[in-house]
Amino acid sequence: MSEAFKPNIAVVYYSSTGTVHQLAETIATGASEAGAEVRLLRVAELAPKEVIANVQPWADHTAATEHIPVATPEDINWADAVIFGTPTRFGNVASQLKQFLDTLGGLWAQGLLADKVYSAFTSTSQLHGGQESTLLALYNSIYHFGGFVVPPGFTDPVKFADGNPYGTSHVTGAQGEIPVDSTARASGAFQGRRIADVTRTLKAGRAATA
Ligand SMILES: Cc1cc2nc3c(=O)[nH]c(=O)nc-3n(C[C@H](O)[C@H](O)[C@H](O)COP(=O)(O)O)c2cc1C
Repeated sequence: MSEAFKPNIAVVYYSSTGTVHQLAETIATGASEAGAEVRLLRVAELAPKEVIANVQPWADHTAATEHIPVATPEDINWADAVIFGTPTRFGNVASQLKQFLDTLGGLWAQGLLADKVYSAFTSTSQLHGGQESTLLALYNSIYHFGGFVVPPGFTDPVKFADGNPYGTSHVTGAQGEIPVDSTARASGAFQGRRIADVTRTLKAGRAATA
């Protein structure tokens, strides 16, 4: 893969029990295999330690991912493209990811969030539990950034298998009993590749017309 116009991609996510984390890893791998420089980053936890300790899967996942760097505004400034991931919370974005977005006001005020590529992914416990509303709510912020929303759409056969043109997604079941499957992994890898390809094209186009 040519190093020319290599895109910097930040995959920035929140996950309590590991589903969105697994999607983030497949998306990061897809982007990396398509030639991007990738940072896989989690956002800071906001829940009290005693609450997390009382939910074993949450405590286990927190301990298992302590080594993953915590996202900062500098990571967003570095990135040519940002792919955000969040579990669905009451049909909306998790507060932990929203809090991170709310730390980006300084970059926004300088126009530094604009003209980047953005995309997103999510998970729910229920089939009609709000994946689309969550992704669309997240994309609202991108309009305020002046970013370029690049959804996967139905631009690859895998999208007709997972059926979600707004972003990679997975349904976990009520107790989280349905593991991330090959369809979600293929969809995530495709989204990572697509964002890398689109971002490289944008960088090349800018260079050609500068
Ligand atoms: C406070 C809260 C609200 C939730 N709201 C929804 C919801 O609106 N729809 C849904 O299907 N699942 C909902 N869930 C389930 C989560 O979306 C699901 O557990 C999550 O996608 C798993 O992701 P994770 O393993 O990365 O944490 C909710 C879970 C919590 C804790």
